[in-house]
Amino acid sequence: MNFKQELAAILYELLNHELTMDELQLSIEKPKNDAHGDLAFPCFTLAKLKRKAPNLIAQELSERVQSPNFEKIEVVGAYINVFLNKKTVSEKMIADLFEQKETYGTLTIGNGGNVTIDMSSPNIAKPFSMGHLRSTVIGNALANIVEKAGYKPIKINHLGDWGTQFGKLIAAFKLWGDTEKIKQNPIKELLKLYIKFHEEAETNPELVDLGRNWFKELEDGNEEALSLWQWFRDESLKEFSKIYQLMHVDFDSFAGEAFYNDKMDRVVELLEEKHLLVESDQAQVVELHEEQLPPCLIKKSDGATLYATRDLAAAIYRKEHYDFDLSLYVVGHEQSLHFQQLKAVLEKMGYGWAKKMVHVPFGMMLKDGKKMSTRKGKVVLLEEVLKESISLAQQNIEEKNPNLVNKDEVANQVGVGAVIFHDLKNFRMNDIEFSMEDMLRFEGETGPYVQYTYARACSILRKGNWHPEDYSKNDHAAWDKEWKVISFLMEFPNAIKRACEQFDPSQVAKYVVNLAQAFNKYYAEVKILEESDEQQARLALVYSVTIVLKEGLRLLGLEAPEEM
Ligand code: ARG
Repeated sequence: MNFKQELAAILYELLNHELTMDELQLSIEKPKNDAHGDLAFPCFTLAKLKRKAPNLIAQELSERVQSPNFEKIEVVGAYINVFLNKKTVSEKMIADLFEQKETYGTLTIGNGGNVTIDMSSPNIAKPFSMGHLRSTVIGNALANIVEKAGYKPIKINHLGDWGTQFGKLIAAFKLWGDTEKIKQNPIKELLKLYIKFHEEAETNPELVDLGRNWFKELEDGNEEALSLWQWFRDESLKEFSKIYQLMHVDFDSFAGEAFYNDKMDRVVELLEEKHLLVESDQAQVVELHEEQLPPCLIKKSDGATLYATRDLAAAIYRKEHYDFDLSLYVVGHEQSLHFQQLKAVLEKMGYGWAKKMVHVPFGMMLKDGKKMSTRKGKVVLLEEVLKESISLAQQNIEEKNPNLVNKDEVANQVGVGAVIFHDLKNFRMNDIEFSMEDMLRFEGETGPYVQYTYARACSILRKGNWHPEDYSKNDHAAWDKEWKVISFLMEFPNAIKRACEQFDPSQVAKYVVNLAQAFNKYYAEVKILEESDEQQARLALVYSVTIVLKEGLRLLGLEAPEEM
């Protein structure tokens, strides 16, 4: 059911194919002002083509636009405004939702193709930062959205588990490490060691060499180095998985940087074969003059590989292993240059598929207007953030609904949902000000607000003792007060399409807020449960809203409690 398409098809015929279906569909708008109807077609392009006044064309054409789905056609200046037939369209919308349920909004853009999503990707032996939270939340929502659009998502956690920093960490551990302490609190203790190493290295340059040597040992397969590394990695993953469990995020692969160790020689060989490697300051680099980018560092003077080398190997591996249609990298915008270089090198290597790699960047999480960093004292431990949010949600429920049976479960859903929604409601490139208070508000554009609206709708259905089987299409309603809600329900597939095309979950977040607002307004105006001819139709609408809100929340990674 797509009325834009229907209007386009009608115009297409009336205009004897003078404009293409695509052109027509692109130019048909949804008027901002409700008084201008549901669809508007501006006649400016046509006027130029026909060398005629746009308002005249609009007038002539409008007289011939007809469909049982259109109630009224009006001309305002150069615009043909179409008012949909509220009754026919509403009943169709509801019938569609009854039939399709949570599959409503499914698209076929993806054609079943694979989309790899590089997401979360924290660095081991360090706290899980806000940046990694953003990547996790955005990546997870994108995975759900592209899946809804007909792709097959493959979620890859490209763990930062290799690199010179692990040489430093091993050196620090050998000097000052305490096994027992680390076992009790791995991330905190390892971070302490790492920070101490940096502090000491400022006055003791020998430490730098020591760290470098240990990394070399690690790359050469020294057993002691490897087993320490493995231990750091295992402990870190245990910590990270607590966060993933709280957030219900899972991965298809944990192939981190270390996974590509045995795949890097081949990359270097390929680069050599293609005469792309040159020496610069004793290091091996790929020059990117024509691309106007700085050279991409492939191998250091001591033969050690780099972040970029491992990403080259990973990109090739992903293409060979998953044959992706799209390869997304959900990584902060500060790494834009890195991804530009990566793509440029792959294109130089002759890989046309490099065009299918998309860096999906995002802005920073700020606290009091400043970047939240993990290096110095200003660490915000993410697990603590989630737990605090859950406990605030718990207090809230205790005040509002002390008799709720599954309080803990709901507090989890609301607390975690609040954090996720706060992240997703704005376009991802915007910086976000971290505010626990804002996230957890039950009014305004928050996760709890949308969840609460869903729970309220469920409660109406419970009170009305209403079941979808009971609804018969003969229940008549004017569908007048309902119209705003109906027109938002119709918008859902478009929101998904935009989110998928722009890799922008905020399209769905904004959509669910709008739908929730429209529904709450309706709820305030209309006594839904009051006995009347229209009661059944109203409840059918409430039911339809629950389906779409729940599915919208699911796409974003939030659960929808039926009571809260
Ligand atoms: N571990 C990196 C970091 O924390 C992010 C990795 C992103 N993914 C990639 N394929 N480079 O900065």
